[in-house]
Amino acid sequence: MHTTNLNPAGGVAADPLGYLAEITACIAATEPLNRTAINLVPSENRMSPTAHALLGTDYSNRYHFNEDAAAAQWEFRGGEPIAQLEVAGRDAFSRLLRTNAEWVNLRPISGLNAMMIALIALGGAPESTVVSIFQASGGHYATGELISRFGHRWRPVDCVDGHIDLGQLERLLATGSVSLVYADLQNSRHVLDVGAVAELVDRYPPARLHVDCSHTLGLVLGGAHPNPLDYGAGSISSSMHKTFPGPHRGLLATRDKTTHALLRKAQVTMVSSHHFATALAAACTALEFETYGGGYASAVIANARVLAASLADHGFDVAGAESGYTDTHQVWVRVKDPFGVSDQLARWGIRVNVQRDLPGYPGPMFRLGAAEPTVLGATATEMRDLAAVIAMARDGHTSRGTALVSELRARIGRRPWWSRTAEPDGVWL
Ligand SMILES: Cc1ncc(COP(=O)(O)O)c(C=O)c1O
Repeated sequence: MHTTNLNPAGGVAADPLGYLAEITACIAATEPLNRTAINLVPSENRMSPTAHALLGTDYSNRYHFNEDAAAAQWEFRGGEPIAQLEVAGRDAFSRLLRTNAEWVNLRPISGLNAMMIALIALGGAPESTVVSIFQASGGHYATGELISRFGHRWRPVDCVDGHIDLGQLERLLATGSVSLVYADLQNSRHVLDVGAVAELVDRYPPARLHVDCSHTLGLVLGGAHPNPLDYGAGSISSSMHKTFPGPHRGLLATRDKTTHALLRKAQVTMVSSHHFATALAAACTALEFETYGGGYASAVIANARVLAASLADHGFDVAGAESGYTDTHQVWVRVKDPFGVSDQLARWGIRVNVQRDLPGYPGPMFRLGAAEPTVLGATATEMRDLAAVIAMARDGHTSRGTALVSELRARIGRRPWWSRTAEPDGVWL
């Protein structure tokens, strides 16, 4: 954390420009470390340099409402020269999701913003029932409260190993008051069984099924996880920076015209500035992802499994030994002193995530993610080395750890997936 040299009596308020000069120097000094840090946080990822560069352009401060770049519709002109990129990005997402480009909505500014739009659009009349997954079963922390704030009755259901409790769900559906089942699995080492839920929801119209695949979007778009739209979900939403290596932003998609119209109407009210530069970065990432996403997505899961097994070999208590550890990018690890080990790793430039609410695992533990090292090019070899480094941090072997990490940081990142467009999928596994 940056500590300021400013006079404590006056502080930032007395010299805001001096403070900003200090912070600017701090950013310049820390950016090289940020760019080579090894990030094992499952809700983060890294963009390609091409996508990232778009965030620093003048487009970041422009309104752009003319989504289809239609002639004689330029009420705000700032986005005109590059408007086609957003259109091309929507087309790329529609190919990746196998749906009509018109029904892909790239306007949400984050996963939670997309969630709010979906709840408002599809939640039905006030007092109708909206179902989501208990946080203790891996559901998102905000969903239930948002549902209640929007005037609906929130009813959570259990979910175990990717299977929503169909008995609980059917009892709720049978009341006839359910407008929406919002499947928001966040903390999971398992694939959500969408098909079984869709089959049940279909029997209780007008209930709809919406799947929030924020964590697994990259796995879905890369074909390593099933596409919820193929298994009966009426719509999906997502953030774009977890397993999908895009910017902080959101997405909505459906294969149904009426559902699209409902989502679109709510989105127009809930998003005005849509953070144009991040939409451009998302579009760029989708176009790149079409060339490498398949290989990357299967490598993420393979790497997560290698990381998990290697950590177990080093004596860590890793969740899911009996079932191959993980079917996603997430690896959950019980560590005796999670914050102490995390501090040591951070000093080495390795960032891990400590979570307290993992289903079935109360108390703080590591929730690791394999997506970011994988997109940068990590293979099974690097994942084994990462497990060794985490063990060195736990065991206090600081000099051996320091040496291995600096070499490892240089090695990861030599062959990012976005730079290997000419190579066949999966060649680096
Ligand atoms: C299922 C789910 N929905 C929504 C979100 C929120 O996304 P964002 O942080 O982009 O707003 C998350 C983030 O973890 C999530 O897992």
